[in-house]
Amino acid sequence: MTKKITQDAQRLLSHARDKTQRLVGKIFLLLALLLFPCWSNAAEDAPFFTKKILPVLVQHCYECHSAEADEVRGNLRVDTRQGLRSGGDNGPAVVPGEPEESFLLSAIKYQEDDYQMPPNGKLSDEIIAAFEKWIKAGAPDPRKPKAAKRSDVTP
Ligand code: HEC
Repeated sequence: MTKKITQDAQRLLSHARDKTQRLVGKIFLLLALLLFPCWSNAAEDAPFFTKKILPVLVQHCYECHSAEADEVRGNLRVDTRQGLRSGGDNGPAVVPGEPEESFLLSAIKYQEDDYQMPPNGKLSDEIIAAFEKWIKAGAPDPRKPKAAKRSDVTP
């Protein structure tokens, strides 16, 4: 009799354990499914900029639009995130999410008579499409702005 009760209790216990394990498994799966999109976006954004956008800026624009230029043309700097966002004499060069309002895009598409960039020859359609895609996606730019330090201020 006691044996039977113990057996029953054991069966019940193991059944409960199976159920809990399955539930925990389900919760994990759900969490993974929920988190996957955020995680995959974060993982994708930075490489897109570093692989497709930054090398073009360095190769085709730095000469005239960075700290490397003897004179920064049009007051536009492309070597910092802030430089791209605030733009030059004509206002913002990159407006995240708004390709139509991004002066940089119309300049590289040669849509502006006086601003055809880079001046020595249009970039390939593939590169231009990459810039458009990047701006549409919110222009993720992992370059960190440098925070001001106390020592930057002269008393
Ligand atoms: C050989 C030099 C040179 C190179 C290389 C060059 N630019 Fe320019 N860029 C200029 C000059 C000069 C101006 C300013 C024209 C003016 O003010 O009349 C200008 C202006 C601009 C402006 C307008 C800035 C403003 O607000 O007035 C944009 C946007 C721009 N360039 C983007 C680019 C991009 C993007 C690249 C690289 C793909 C690039 N440029 C490469 C010379 C250059």
